Amino acid sequence: MTIRPLIAGNWKMNGLAASLGEVHALREAQAAPACDVLICPPATLIGAMVAAVQGHPMMVGAQDCHAAESGAHTGDLSAEMIADAGGSAVIVGHSERRADHGEDDAAVKAKAEAALRAGLIAIVCIGETEEERDAGRALDVVLGQLAASLPAGATAENTVIAYEPVWAIGTGRVPEIADIAQMHDALRDDLKDRLSDGASVRLLYGGSMKPGNAAEILAVENVNGGLIGGASLKAADFGAIIAAA
Ligand code: 13P
Repeated sequence: MTIRPLIAGNWKMNGLAASLGEVHALREAQAAPACDVLICPPATLIGAMVAAVQGHPMMVGAQDCHAAESGAHTGDLSAEMIADAGGSAVIVGHSERRADHGEDDAAVKAKAEAALRAGLIAIVCIGETEEERDAGRALDVVLGQLAASLPAGATAENTVIAYEPVWAIGTGRVPEIADIAQMHDALRDDLKDRLSDGASVRLLYGGSMKPGNAAEILAVENVNGGLIGGASLKAADFGAIIAAA
């Protein structure tokens, strides 16, 4: 089965209005990408980025949402607000939010369900720490996170799973290709058991993906794209990863 890959950029807490120049450069360099492309800038840039990608298939998303539709939640954004701003997707459960904001699997699941409620694609992040991998628990931890954070109503259309080993994020270290393959195979088997269209759910790899290693990682069976942090900030690097897909 062919699954159209998704190359998604997570700008994290980076980017000012001037950074939109990278998006203009990217749309010129990648006028007709052979994969789906998404950028998740900080919330301050969502509206302007939606305008900047007008007429190009690139999508714009957010990095987090609240589970509720509206209410007294100072500083938070609802999935409905992201959709209203022109967003198409939202990342939920990134390990930085799990660590910095104490988000557990139940909170991540509620956020993912909010994304689906608002008609957004939920990108659910899971991944083990280095300690968990060293203890031989990586598969157990990651499959446990998937079971507990997969939203009710998930389909291959509305949900994407991103496997991001915590120790590979921003470190320049990536797992052995065989370890990526093993994890993605296990995730695929699990999704097939859980969802009628689990064979088609996109499984992204994230963690120090760069132009130099993207082709090798993206060639792994059951890797259907990437979630890219640092290398998504520059059009040249992100464009090279899109080209590799
Ligand atoms: P890096 O690509 O900077 O390692 O970040 C990966 C990531 O956390 C994407 O969500």
